[in-house]
Amino acid sequence: MSDVKLDDVVSLSKRRGFVFQASEIYGGLSGFYDYGPLGVELVNNIKKEWWDAMVRERDNIFGVDGAIVQNPKLWEASGHVAGFTDPLVDCKNCGARHRADHLAGTDSTNLDELKGMLKGKKCPTCGKTDLTEPRTYNMMMKTWVGPVEDDNSVAYLRPETAGSIFTNYQNVRETMRAKLPFGIAQIGKAFRNEISPRDFIFRVRELEQMEMQYFIRPETQDEVYEQWRQFAWKFLTERMGIDEKNISWHEHGDDERAHYAKAAHDIYFKFPFGDKELWGTHNRTDFDLGSHQKVSGKDLQYFDPESRERFTPYVIESSVGVGRMFLAVLADAYQEEEINGDTRIVLKLSPKLAPYKVAVSPLLKNKPELVEKAREVYKMLKSEFGNVMYDDNGNIGKRYRRQDEIGTPYCVTIDFDTLEDNTVTLRDRDTTEQQRVKIDEILLKLEIY
Ligand code: GAP
Repeated sequence: MSDVKLDDVVSLSKRRGFVFQASEIYGGLSGFYDYGPLGVELVNNIKKEWWDAMVRERDNIFGVDGAIVQNPKLWEASGHVAGFTDPLVDCKNCGARHRADHLAGTDSTNLDELKGMLKGKKCPTCGKTDLTEPRTYNMMMKTWVGPVEDDNSVAYLRPETAGSIFTNYQNVRETMRAKLPFGIAQIGKAFRNEISPRDFIFRVRELEQMEMQYFIRPETQDEVYEQWRQFAWKFLTERMGIDEKNISWHEHGDDERAHYAKAAHDIYFKFPFGDKELWGTHNRTDFDLGSHQKVSGKDLQYFDPESRERFTPYVIESSVGVGRMFLAVLADAYQEEEINGDTRIVLKLSPKLAPYKVAVSPLLKNKPELVEKAREVYKMLKSEFGNVMYDDNGNIGKRYRRQDEIGTPYCVTIDFDTLEDNTVTLRDRDTTEQQRVKIDEILLKLEIY
């Protein structure tokens, strides 16, 4: 368990405009959240890093952006209609519904095992020991396509982005003239009617995923699986700046694996509520392409021009939730520090992820000559970094604290000396050290990219 309290992260998120409850003025809706002005910047920076690492810096991984609603046959073929289930129990006394595996404190979703483990368990809502036997429940959200709401018009909001990657496998292979191994990546929303959404944005009903399916020759599965496992670990530590001591491996047992996976390794993050899944690497074998081939009747086999073989590619999947990454990055960066007898909250975010890169302040806001110079510096930095804040509210100490709290790596202050010698005070978020820097040398001092 991490030292950071969830309440502190939630409170900061709300106070500083990272995350709001969806439709808050109507009391919210369980499992749905909105990202605020700072949150959307952090989200976009996380997604950009992932997209760069996955697609732009490679030659053989291509992006798609599929529709959220697809032909429902896709989800029959993928096994989600039959198998995308969680075990649940109802409380006969108060009617509350709970995830049976969570209540039993296990990763197993085997109903017989759960039945035994749940004997004598109390309902967390009312405290009575009057629970039903565990049963399965499909988590896909339904909708209707067209004006008639009947069984023939039922469609699903996608439960994972992977679906339209598989159905576009042939399109991408042909249009990009791709040869194995190659990958298809996608970032987008997915929907799951979670029985008990919980832990802030950790388990939600509308989520966003960053997923990549890597199509390979079957005999390379172990080696490629290992490569993508290592990719995830390196990405978290090197590109998200997450401390290695906050992450660990968790290999899925037989009872835990999704219906499509032959092997699965999660990276767990030390969240404030315990060590929990952040990022999954799965060996999906030829399950998906094989199944789509059968149900659609389309030939999805790969013809290898060198060996003259024809076969169904295997798939190694790398999948991580944007919201969970966001929460992990925030929790990892959140620190409370004592400075000269004062406590400061500081988000030690990697500068690449920080919503604002620099804050510019005139020492006094009622001195036009300082304001004019500060505006000049602000304009110069804004044209370079885009996200630069102009902050002239309160005293300078308060401004620094405010920027620390939202993770702004640098503050630049314009004072009376600036008017004399064209230097400014440059303050570093992490060390709180201040140095005098010439205005035309500020850019050289900032370590942002
Ligand atoms: N395509 C594979 C797949 O969807 P998953 O383990 O069900 O696998 C992948 O989900 C990732 O999506 C998880 O590792 C997690 O980061 C995120 N995720 C899954 N369910 C979530 C939920 N209800 N709320 C937030 N994130 C979720």
